[in-house]
Amino acid sequence: MKNVITIDGPSGSGKGTVSKILARKLGYRYLDTGALYRAVAWKVQKKNISPDDEESLGKLLDTTVIKFEGLKILVDGTDVSAAIRTAEIGELSSQVSAMPIVRKGLFSMQRKMGLEGNVVIEGRDTGTAIFPESENKFYLDATTEERARRRYEELKLRTPEITLKQTVEDIKKRDRRDSSRASSPLMRTDDMIHIDSTGMSVEQVVSFILDRLT
Ligand code: DC
Repeated sequence: MKNVITIDGPSGSGKGTVSKILARKLGYRYLDTGALYRAVAWKVQKKNISPDDEESLGKLLDTTVIKFEGLKILVDGTDVSAAIRTAEIGELSSQVSAMPIVRKGLFSMQRKMGLEGNVVIEGRDTGTAIFPESENKFYLDATTEERARRRYEELKLRTPEITLKQTVEDIKKRDRRDSSRASSPLMRTDDMIHIDSTGMSVEQVVSFILDRLT
């Protein structure tokens, strides 16, 4: 399986930016799996459901239609692309993503989209659980400080009151939860090419990946 490129890594590692550019250069589609968890979190918040209420989460997933339209993401027909990019939804998406019922609900959708081929798929478990058979798997990382700084630059546009210190704390908490959950945690495996992007430009990371595609 060569036309499915998986890129996993923690928040702020640059996966999103790198994957989008890579997909454009290759003429591939781009699948942001984190956006799916964020979309679920958006609806969980709207419906005022507790992120650990399994039964309600199950019902919500059965009755929710999540769709990508280019780079936009729609939940039941509403464009939530901007609304899901807040620190609050980031935290809530990490909480709901630890629930096996949510992971199971989103699994087949991700698998189906990927199987259409020619796709760059990024997230936390794309190389371990969604496309373990991919031959082009990458793990993108950077120091906590660098990742928090990148996230902060993004978040402050939408949430001016956010501080760098708060972003560092949030990222550490999210890293811990995403890596320690029982159900397909964020994990770097031996068959992934590891990239520490600290101090690297986006262009450098993209060409590093392009040079290593089989
Ligand atoms: O990459 P992101 O920050 O948009 O992801 C939001 C949350 O979704 C992240 O904290 C964990 C979860 N997630 C996941 O569990 N598995 C994925 N493949 C992608 C994201």
